[in-house]
Amino acid sequence: MALKKFVAGNWKMHGLSADLAEIKVIADASRQYPGVDVALCVPAILIERAARAVPGFAIGGQDVHHAEKGAHTGSVSAQMLHDAGAGLTIVGHSERRDAQRESDVEVKAKAEAALACGLGVILCVGESLAVREAGGAIETVVAQLEGSLPESAKAASLAIAYEPIWAIGTGKVPTVAEIAEMHRAIRGRLDERYGAGIRILYGGSVKGSNAAEIFGVADVDGALVGGASLKCADFIPIVAAAAAAG
Ligand code: 13P
Repeated sequence: MALKKFVAGNWKMHGLSADLAEIKVIADASRQYPGVDVALCVPAILIERAARAVPGFAIGGQDVHHAEKGAHTGSVSAQMLHDAGAGLTIVGHSERRDAQRESDVEVKAKAEAALACGLGVILCVGESLAVREAGGAIETVVAQLEGSLPESAKAASLAIAYEPIWAIGTGKVPTVAEIAEMHRAIRGRLDERYGAGIRILYGGSVKGSNAAEIFGVADVDGALVGGASLKCADFIPIVAAAAAAG
């Protein structure tokens, strides 16, 4: 049975007070597609205002610290995200795995901290271009998964985002066959570990123009969208394509 599609926007380090109006426009437009779960993961400092501006619409964070509290200057805990009105958070995005040197062990601890606080988690994995070209993409991503998956999770609160690093913000997208092969491998691991039902999102240069093709691939249950999630005019066609794909 097809899983309900999930389209999440990752605003990365974009968004000021003035952009709350766009969040409201996106949330309002998303309501026309009740067959799709839609969320926006915004900068931490905007979460509370965004959540207040769009009650009932899912607002998420982009990262979380693994510790409950303590001497971690500049960090945000899962309880803080939840308290601010977030319903979910991204963990393990490749930009953080790279720039902040986040390890699989750390990503796993972050996922577990978020789940323990009642937040949904989008856990990201993905290979570099060098790894893809060397033929090691599946092996690398499966190893990342093995290292970063939380010990236990319910299907409703965990999603995996497969984001090939070389496809992020580049306009390059893997072939349909490459996406299908990777999602099938991820599905196999998830089913073994938790049973069926965990959604697998594709991320990396998803746009209105390629969304229908991507959502048509087996085992693609949605998308994690960067640049095209910033404007309603770019994002809603992706949500519409998810709705049409069913
Ligand atoms: P783009 O959609 O801008 O390629 O970004 C993808 C991404 O990194 C989402 O987390």
